[in-house]
Amino acid sequence: LDNGLALTPPMGFMSWERYRCLIDCEKRPNECISEKLFKNIADVMVEEGYKDAGYEYVIIDDCWLEKKRDNVTGRLVPDKKRFPNGMKAVADYIHSKGLKFGLYEDYGTSTCAGYPGVIDNMKLDADTFAEWEVDYVKLDGCNADPKTMDVGYPKFGDYLNKTGRPMVYSCSWPVYQEEKGTIPNYELMIKHCNLWRNWDDIQDSYDSLKKIMDYFSRNQERIQPQAGPGHWNDPDMLLLGNYALSYDQSKTQMAVWAILAAPLLMSTDLRSVTPEIKAILQNKEIIAVNQDALGIQGKRVILINKIEVWVKPISPVSKTGHYSYAVAFVSRRDDGFPFDFGLKLSDLKFDNLNGYKVHDLFAKTKTLIPQKYRTEDTFNVRINPSGVQFYKFTSL
Ligand code: DGJ
Repeated sequence: LDNGLALTPPMGFMSWERYRCLIDCEKRPNECISEKLFKNIADVMVEEGYKDAGYEYVIIDDCWLEKKRDNVTGRLVPDKKRFPNGMKAVADYIHSKGLKFGLYEDYGTSTCAGYPGVIDNMKLDADTFAEWEVDYVKLDGCNADPKTMDVGYPKFGDYLNKTGRPMVYSCSWPVYQEEKGTIPNYELMIKHCNLWRNWDDIQDSYDSLKKIMDYFSRNQERIQPQAGPGHWNDPDMLLLGNYALSYDQSKTQMAVWAILAAPLLMSTDLRSVTPEIKAILQNKEIIAVNQDALGIQGKRVILINKIEVWVKPISPVSKTGHYSYAVAFVSRRDDGFPFDFGLKLSDLKFDNLNGYKVHDLFAKTKTLIPQKYRTEDTFNVRINPSGVQFYKFTSL
């Protein structure tokens, strides 16, 4: 969507994967979907360096609403107990921290969790979002006919646009069409949305992460070309900091999401993230790969011996016109033993005869010996099971 927003993939926090529809604040006061939770998250994002690393949006997912609209004005009403000061107050707080505010709604008659959807009140709801100073809208697609989405999603987007307030527009329309076996019309998506969820929800398991990686590689010829500044594919939230992923698997998700130019939306309790996971989430060079200005989504280019090689062209482009690259060697092996793997750069179709300077994006000491690799040189790595080795190849 050409609205000047999301020129690089959006970064921030989104509540769903970790907090779901937790609404019992008496039983779970620190975890329930409430004003308090999002204020806490905003505080931590600033105090603990996430904002400085580039994370910007604080996004409230489903379950923030009252079950019924206001019976006089027809407006959406935030849950009165959990958001006692209304949504504008939450937005003000988040803005006062120098962050941006995102809010969830659903295109259909009700959200997936059963709260009122926008379908019959699109103009009113877009205006309400603008009044509340929302900066990012996630529009889900439950309880609606996927056949009407090619018209309905653009219509809500037009109302957002007509408010005059810049709002990132995240669509879930491909998910619901693919579910029904329809191939989504990505040209429409590019025109009307800043990003879109392509496929299933991520869950907090390594199995779910692998399935999403497989979907993105299996369909890459079709979906990779759709991504670019202002319009991104969205493989869903980051799991880092939660229960399921090991340290190596956490690195794998971060590396692959960087390669995919995916939105980096954390969904974990930022108040209690370990230093190791925080270092991955805030790894500046990996974030730079994700946020690279060229905005080219990477692909899985090799799969041998259960080793996947994912490659993303990035800047700087050399004087000779050759891209630099981010390269992730991901092990899908489960034999519990670090695996030695090597290939020639020419196997990756790297063809700058001046060679490449290489450094390790995860290692504390980043310099490699030798520092310079030519196209016929073999590049060797050793990859932990379900882990990753991640490098930047700077074109010379
Ligand atoms: C389905 C979406 O894909 C999820 O990300 C989340 O927003 C839930 N719905 C909320 O009900």
